[in-house]
Formats: sequence, structure tokens, C-alpha cells
Amino acid sequence: MTKRELCLAAIDAAKKSYAPYSGFNVGAALLCKNGIVYSGCNIENAAFSPTVCAERVAVFKAVSDGNLDFEMIAVVGGKNRNISPVTTPCGVCRQVLSEFCSPEMPILLVKNEIGDFEETNIGALLPSSFTL
Ligand code: THU
Repeated sequence: MTKRELCLAAIDAAKKSYAPYSGFNVGAALLCKNGIVYSGCNIENAAFSPTVCAERVAVFKAVSDGNLDFEMIAVVGGKNRNISPVTTPCGVCRQVLSEFCSPEMPILLVKNEIGDFEETNIGALLPSSFTL
């Protein structure tokens, strides 16, 4: 799977976003080393704090399925089902990603509907991260 294809999978995942409170729709697509792609979308809640981000949904689906070896992840977001360039993972998601991803693993930030992207990684997004 190409990087652009993973970005298009993230755009597809964002269509399932449940975000009636913020109106900000996020999708993530996580490619595992065995070729399986796990999608995620943000899922909001009337009580606000139970809201979960798209990235964590994708990571937790993979891990709970026994897949911990990640190749790359694509993230897309924007208001009212538009794409804003670019949506970067929140602090909590960065911490979760740092648990499972190498510092160099590609994190693709989708820029538009044809799957153009910027590339970053956890080494850049969460330097000096906490480890036990
Ligand atoms: N959100 C994500 O899904 N991922 C992020 O990394 C940033 C924020 C969601 C949470 C909430 O549903 C909405 O975007 C607005 O914060």
C-alpha cells in the first residue's frame, strides 16, 4: 500500500466520525507490518470527557487484535467534513503512539481530498518522551 493510499483510507475513515459537538471530523488509518489496515474515527460524547480521538481508536483496534507492529499511520481532519491542512495528533495520542511506534515511523498528515500529505514522526512530535 502506498502512502497516498493510506491517506485516502484515512479520508474514508473520517466519514464515520461521530462529532456532533465539535463538528470537527477526524479519520485515521493505521497500516500494520502484516498489511492489515485499521481505521479509526473520533467518537464524541455528550459528557465530553469520554470523547476519543481517531488515532487512538485505530491504535486500540490494532493492539486489541494482537497487531503491535506498525508501518505508518495517516491522519486527516477538518470542520464540517472538510479537510483542513493539517491535523496533527493531540498530546494524548502522541503519547499513545510513542508506546508502539519507533521515533522514525511515518505519520502522514493529510492536506487535501486527493491524499497529498506532509510527513512527520513521533521523534519530531514528542521529543524527550516519557519512558519507564
Ligand atoms: N481529535 C482527534 O480525533 N484527533 C486528534 O488528534 C485531535 C482531536 C478530535 C477529538 C474531538 O472529537 C475533535 O477532534 C475536536 O477536538
